[in-house]
Amino acid sequence: MATDPLIEKFRTAGQGQVFAFFDELAPDAQRRLLAEAAEIDLAEVTRLTQTLLAPGAVAGVNLGGLEPAPYEALPAKGGDAAAWAKAKAAGEIALRAGRVAAFTVAGGQGTRLGYDGPKGTFPVTPVKHKPLFQVFAEKILAAGRRFGRPLHWFIMTSHHNHAATEAFFGEHEFFGLDKARVHFFPQGRMPAVDFAGKIMLEGKGAIALSPDGHGGSLRALERSGALDLMQREHVDTLSYFQVDNPLVRCVDPAFIGWHILRGSQMSSKMVTKAYAEEKLGHFCVQGGRLVVVEYSDLPMAMQRETAADGRLRFEAGSIAIHLLDREFVRHVARGEGVALPFHRADKKIPTVDATGQPVQPAKANGVKFELFVFDALPFARNPLVIETNRKDDFSPVKNAEGVDSPQTCRDDQLRQFGRWLRASGAPLATDSSGLPVVTLEVSPLFGYDEDSFADAWKKLSPPPKVSDGLYLS
Ligand code: UD1
Repeated sequence: MATDPLIEKFRTAGQGQVFAFFDELAPDAQRRLLAEAAEIDLAEVTRLTQTLLAPGAVAGVNLGGLEPAPYEALPAKGGDAAAWAKAKAAGEIALRAGRVAAFTVAGGQGTRLGYDGPKGTFPVTPVKHKPLFQVFAEKILAAGRRFGRPLHWFIMTSHHNHAATEAFFGEHEFFGLDKARVHFFPQGRMPAVDFAGKIMLEGKGAIALSPDGHGGSLRALERSGALDLMQREHVDTLSYFQVDNPLVRCVDPAFIGWHILRGSQMSSKMVTKAYAEEKLGHFCVQGGRLVVVEYSDLPMAMQRETAADGRLRFEAGSIAIHLLDREFVRHVARGEGVALPFHRADKKIPTVDATGQPVQPAKANGVKFELFVFDALPFARNPLVIETNRKDDFSPVKNAEGVDSPQTCRDDQLRQFGRWLRASGAPLATDSSGLPVVTLEVSPLFGYDEDSFADAWKKLSPPPKVSDGLYLS
């Protein structure tokens, strides 16, 4: 009978089942199981079980007193053009001073897309089929050149895809970036529990562990030493974006400027929802605090409510782009007066039965716990939401087909390249949706946003012919 002190701790906490097959395991497998068990904060699991699984635990989120959140509208939609210009100038100064780093959360499992590798390795561009990571890398490289200060880039991976992600960057020589400025770190993991709160095994010698949600990025930034590195490098602002969205402006001067001028600790971009059922989180105010309520938590009747002018009442959709103040992240990560709530997701979790035989459940048999980064918003000082043009910031790849798929994302990239070309005076035929009739691609190293594109295009003499299709690099 095994007597490791860790095993004793699990038994005392009522979680001895984790070691039910321990004595059957080879020494190596025993060591691996003990290492997994050591990752688990038993007190946290007990607390979550008591709060989120207890009979009578309130399901879903509190919807009391929810109001739509205010936001800074774009100048074209009635916002203050002078304030936007001032913000952009302030953001450019911050970029020239090297105050900003890019941050990608890439720990998700990409299940909906049905793609096996790390999602960032998925090819997305129309001509060169560049993977998501390359698009971000080139935007970050180009922004560093434009502002005369190479950026640091933090990439949060998961236990599952960490090695593959690092290897991918190695094989591609970091897409031209200085590898000393690209920092990978894995996010934490949480155990799945059954409906009685017992930690589940996925095999006789393996705990059912999964990533702790993108909200786990805040504690992973602290634990990995990323915040200390930022401090040493005088970086005080993190530009946070998801791995699924190649249209994102990885560092956006106007956004950065708004954030700095407002003294905000956490800022966010919104788009007006395209339709009521669109699967976006909603920016709301509750009890005077800014919150995001997920599409799955806001009743459809509320998502469909309209204001007097016919617009959706809860129109501000979150596209998961944020700016985070370094010391705010540290504060949240350390739990100093702030505790991000875990969310419960009931899932089908492959496991083993009492005799150790594998079980593939047909319906949900357990619960996973996840943290969401936007749950830090209510704790931030002066949190700010600004509007952005969807076509310049958001076209994610989430599903294999239909909405938010490789096809829609490719078309949105083409429309963007087409807009930039036409704004610079290039003759280009498009269909009524703005989709160019020829296939184009603009390397971020040529132009990664409207301004950088226009500057680069001006230097081409004579400008290239667009009618046969084009790759600008
Ligand atoms: C997310 C947001 C939603 C927002 C939408 C915009 C949540 C719960 N919802 O939805 O409010 O409107 O994006 O596109 O976030 N990730 C990790 N580790 C994890 C889990 C996720 O790094 O443990 C990363 C993924 O790699 C991805 C991002 O977080 O980059 C989003 O994850 P995903 O689960 O796909 O979120 P959505 O449901 O699409």
